[in-house]
Amino acid sequence: MKSAASSATRVRASSGDYRVFCQHGCLKNLSREIDRLGNFSSVHILSSERVWAAVGKKVRRGIPAKEKVRIHLFDDAETAKNLKTVEVLARKLVRAGADRKSVLIAVGGGVVGDVVGFVAASYLRGVALVQVPTTVVAQVDSAIGGKTGVNLPEGKNLVGAFYPPSLVLVDPEVLTTLPAREFRGGLAEVIKYGVIADAKLFAFLEKNMSRILARNHRALEHTIRRSIEIKAYVVSKDERESGLREILNYGHTFAHALESATRYRKYQHGEAVAWGMMCAALLGHETIQTPPNDVARVVALVRQIGPLPSWPSIPAQSLFDLMRADKKSKFGKVRFVLSKKIGHAESYDHISEKSAICVLRFGPHLILRPMEALGKCHD
Ligand SMILES: NC(=O)c1ccc[n+]([C@@H]2O[C@H](COP(=O)([O-])OP(=O)(O)OC[C@H]3O[C@@H](n4cnc5c(N)ncnc54)[C@H](O)[C@@H]3O)[C@@H](O)[C@H]2O)c1
Ligand SMILES: [Zn+2]
Repeated sequence: MKSAASSATRVRASSGDYRVFCQHGCLKNLSREIDRLGNFSSVHILSSERVWAAVGKKVRRGIPAKEKVRIHLFDDAETAKNLKTVEVLARKLVRAGADRKSVLIAVGGGVVGDVVGFVAASYLRGVALVQVPTTVVAQVDSAIGGKTGVNLPEGKNLVGAFYPPSLVLVDPEVLTTLPAREFRGGLAEVIKYGVIADAKLFAFLEKNMSRILARNHRALEHTIRRSIEIKAYVVSKDERESGLREILNYGHTFAHALESATRYRKYQHGEAVAWGMMCAALLGHETIQTPPNDVARVVALVRQIGPLPSWPSIPAQSLFDLMRADKKSKFGKVRFVLSKKIGHAESYDHISEKSAICVLRFGPHLILRPMEALGKCHD
């Protein structure tokens, strides 16, 4: 997957492999890396006002002034992640003379990456795409794996395409300007990788969380690089989410219910995932004999990333009904990704409604109690 000396991780995709390059300051090599991909007729950077104000200078430094580069800024609010924005961007590209030999560079968080990825997939039936992710979520998750798309009024990410980029350039230095809440939320996804695939990463996070929260260069780069390797491994094995890729949903079945029950207003996604992972750990204890010590470690690590908005005052049954309605449940059966021990996870479809509701009802209280008191959940 990756040689020890290099900072590049290879991702396999049916339309061709690509590299994810991760190193502090690597943005200064942007132009060279694009040249290595081929000869492009024009370069189009697509970003948002906010991201460009924060990282634009660094990106510009990586592309010599002599190169023909056009910059197109658009709104990266989640509410603007829609087909209208796709149309606006495509029309901007036409007017700027972008052709089949152009390359699009998405500079931003997951919203920018998802929208620009979909534009790249559909503009002239597909043009080259480079992802320059600027949030923790985008660096360790959304920029890798080729999922692109936008929301409809009926739901999130309902229109999209699998469209792998030609290159992902991850520079952890750009995270210095990321607001604290976004940064901490992203760390929830990082903890997820430890739980589902890498006990060593999990232990590293336990030991180094305060350095990571202080955005220490070395600790952050190691964390992000290892997370990228895990995501790359999973999506390389299962590009279209027919099996292994499901484990990336650890904590997400609960998270989506919390987000939807609170109309996406109360929790930042990572915060909902943080609650979701603690619930998944408890459900693992309840149903597949996850040892109490592992549950306690998951809860303790999640709590290290900081305070979370409180659990909503919504009946457990209503939250469970939302899980059943989730697009990822199959034939009305809720699937849960659970971890038998830290570093391993599997998807289960036979978890009883009673166990899940028990966790939804009592879990949040158990989580807030000293974990030594953890026992089986009885109603
Ligand atoms: N395609 C996938 O596989 C995948 C996976 C996970 C999430 N997503 C999608 O990603 C989106 C969420 O992405 P996100 O968490 O990156 O949030 P985001 O893109 O909404 O960005 C969060 C905020 O941070 C700002 N920002 C970004 N980088 C910055 C920087 N370096 N400095 C200062 N501010 C910066 C943005 O302008 C925005 O206001 C959702 O739409 C979700 O559906 C997609
Ligand atoms: Zn997520």
